[in-house]
Amino acid sequence: MSASTITPWVVGNWKMNPVQAQAQQLLNEFKQLLQNSPIAQEKCHLGIAPTMLALSTVQAQMADAARPVYTVAQDVSRIAGTGAYTGEVSAELLADHGVGYVLVGHSERREIFADQRDQLNAKVQNALNAGLTVIYCVGESLAQREAGQAEVVVLQQICDIAAVVTGDAWGKIVIAYEPIWAIGTGKTASPEDAQAMHAKIREGLKQLTPHGANMAILYGGSVKAENAVELAACPDINGALVGGASLNADSFHQIALAFANTK
Ligand code: 13P
Repeated sequence: MSASTITPWVVGNWKMNPVQAQAQQLLNEFKQLLQNSPIAQEKCHLGIAPTMLALSTVQAQMADAARPVYTVAQDVSRIAGTGAYTGEVSAELLADHGVGYVLVGHSERREIFADQRDQLNAKVQNALNAGLTVIYCVGESLAQREAGQAEVVVLQQICDIAAVVTGDAWGKIVIAYEPIWAIGTGKTASPEDAQAMHAKIREGLKQLTPHGANMAILYGGSVKAENAVELAACPDINGALVGGASLNADSFHQIALAFANTK
């Protein structure tokens, strides 16, 4: 396996967790780990995606960390700008708060909140217009995988955003492949299966854009300290989007170390 020139990303998706006191403890522990066992910035991008409520807290608390840790929003409105849209947070408002990164299309948004192609494209477009980097999530369900449709589904999800992402804007897109059946189940895709899908995604991206060869493709779905090294060893796996294990500072740090040291 050849060494990748793509700097890996390890991003913790806290989802609708944790309460304030735990968040503060988690961040303090993580900062301490970064101090004691540093991970060079050029070896790995690091990000934390807390709830909207905690974005500013995470940003403030990580401001004096030993190295940059990006604050990532878990979602963004399909409506741009400002206005009478109760409950929404636009890309412009995120940017105004210094948030430079956002997840779009997480399977929990697609499945539980019925985010569909048009809404997701609007979110991607708004985020890019506001200068944000988008971590665009794709992934098939168990039924789709068992029906042999995994690749078609995932490649279609990627093609969907080509309607709104053009030219150098592809340079502001990171892909996260998260097979739905592996999320929160403890069931990880085998490194071989994950690599096979990542290679297909890479081929698809190369057909869409000259940036395709250099775009980071993250894996998500039950990533933990115990499986991070073998996932990191796969040539087309350029990082991880980590759910449950990111709520433990030590596990999250171990995963980041695995990617920083293996790539
Ligand atoms: P788990 O790591 O808890 O499986 O969650 C993955 C995920 O959905 C990250 O976005």
